[in-house]
This record gives sequence, structure tokens and C-alpha cells, in this order.
Amino acid sequence: MYPHFPVIQNSFWTSASVNSRNSLKFIMDDDDAPQLSAHTLAALQEFYTEQNKQEQTLIEAQQGNIKELEISEDWQLSQFWYNETTATRLAEEALRAVGEQGACLSSPTAYKKLREIKPDSVSLKCLEYDTRFQVYGDDFLLYDYKEPLKFPKDWKNWFDLVIADPPFLSEECLCKTAVSIKYLAKDKIILCTGAVMTDLADKLLGLKPCVFQPQHTNNLQNEFRCYTNYDSQLFNKS
Ligand SMILES: C[S@@+](CC[C@H](N)C(=O)[O-])C[C@H]1O[C@@H](n2cnc3c(N)ncnc32)[C@H](O)[C@@H]1O
Repeated sequence: MYPHFPVIQNSFWTSASVNSRNSLKFIMDDDDAPQLSAHTLAALQEFYTEQNKQEQTLIEAQQGNIKELEISEDWQLSQFWYNETTATRLAEEALRAVGEQGACLSSPTAYKKLREIKPDSVSLKCLEYDTRFQVYGDDFLLYDYKEPLKFPKDWKNWFDLVIADPPFLSEECLCKTAVSIKYLAKDKIILCTGAVMTDLADKLLGLKPCVFQPQHTNNLQNEFRCYTNYDSQLFNKS
């Protein structure tokens, strides 16, 4: 179900949520009333403290401090963020490829970096399932790959660049994401996904693998690749 699952599993969010879901130990007292163990209570407390901190950061971001916004990975949503080098390389390539309109599909880190470096003449959309990214205001659109054509009608073939990084390494997920990409894209496409999807990416969208290999803040077990439907000099520099 979570094909991108990283080798390193040391994020607070994972340990806290796993603790709170899987390690909930109940101690029965004399009255048979269930109570949480001290260890579990401490883990829950830590979890809620971190959650409050995140919510506060989102509120501050909505009030304008958006550049500093860090949204933690939620592995339940198959979220594995690019590392800084990869986000920068993707954004630089996107800037070369884009004309006036770009869309980042399930790739909020690419959106964030591109937003930082783009000129005002470029408009961007962040299409995401995770509503925490609503902090990006009008740029945000709730996107669920299971409803691949749920877009405003005037977005048909509107974006001269679409970047996508679907959440799952499954045929179903890539096929539906490809339906969205075909609807949105006018011209160029950048897809980041597992190497196992190479043949399907070519069949569905005519995408070819690049030399550049995206990397993540946590190492993933799966070999990861970047695909384009055009010749990218930046991605093919060895
Ligand atoms: C493998 S991650 C790609 C993120 C990318 N590496 C980045 O750093 O921006 C998959 C993305 O798909 C999003 N996602 C999860 N469930 C989704 C769904 N049902 N439909 C569309 N996107 C979804 C996640 O929130 C996450 O941003």
C-alpha cells in the first residue's frame, strides 16, 4: 500500500502516530476502568504538542509568513518530500520549461520551491490532496487522483507545464493521474515516480526517463526516476 516506504523510519510523526495507534496499552485498574500507560500518555502528549505547533505554523503562514512554512511528511498520505537539491533542480528545470502557467500535481515541494524562484509573470497551481496546503490560497486546488477530471472546465489544456508525482506505485494510480495530466497539459510534462513505472509512463504519456534522479529527505527503498515528454538539457547533464 505504501510502496515508497523509506528505509529510515525516524520521523516524529511516524513514531508518535504508530505509538498512538499500535502501541496503545491499557492498564486495568481496580475498577476495571481502562487507563493509558504512562509511556503511552507521554507519547500522546508529545504528539498533540507537535500537532499544536504545526497548526500554529499553518496559521502564521496564512497570515503571511509562508516562505518559512515547513509541512511535515504524513506517511499515511504517501508523502515523501524531495530533498533541497532535488526541489531546486526540479524548480530550475520547471522555470526553463514553463511559459506562463504551471501546475504541480501531488508535488507540493516542487510547487513551494518554484513559487520561491519564479518571476511574477508565471502563474502556478498546487493541486494536492492534503488540505494543509490550503495555506497557498487561490493557488491550491483539492486534488484526488481517484477523481481525475474534477477540474474547472477552463483548465483543459491550459498549463504549459505539468509536474506530477503520484502517491502510489500502482497501475491504477498512474493511469488515473495520466488522465488528469492529459486534461491539464498543453505542452510539457515532468513526472517523478518509481522506475518500475517506466514502461507505463511511456505508454500512457510518451514520457522518457532522464539522467537526473530525484532524491528525498528520507531514503526510499524504491529506485526513483524523473521522466519528461521533451528533451531537458538540465535533467540530462551527466
Ligand atoms: C510521493 S508524494 C510526492 C511528493 C513530492 N515528492 C514532493 O516532495 O512534493 C505523493 C503526493 O501525493 C499526495 N496524495 C496523497 N493521496 C493522494 C490522492 N488520493 N490523490 C492525489 N494526491 C494524493 C500526497 O499528499 C503527496 O503530496
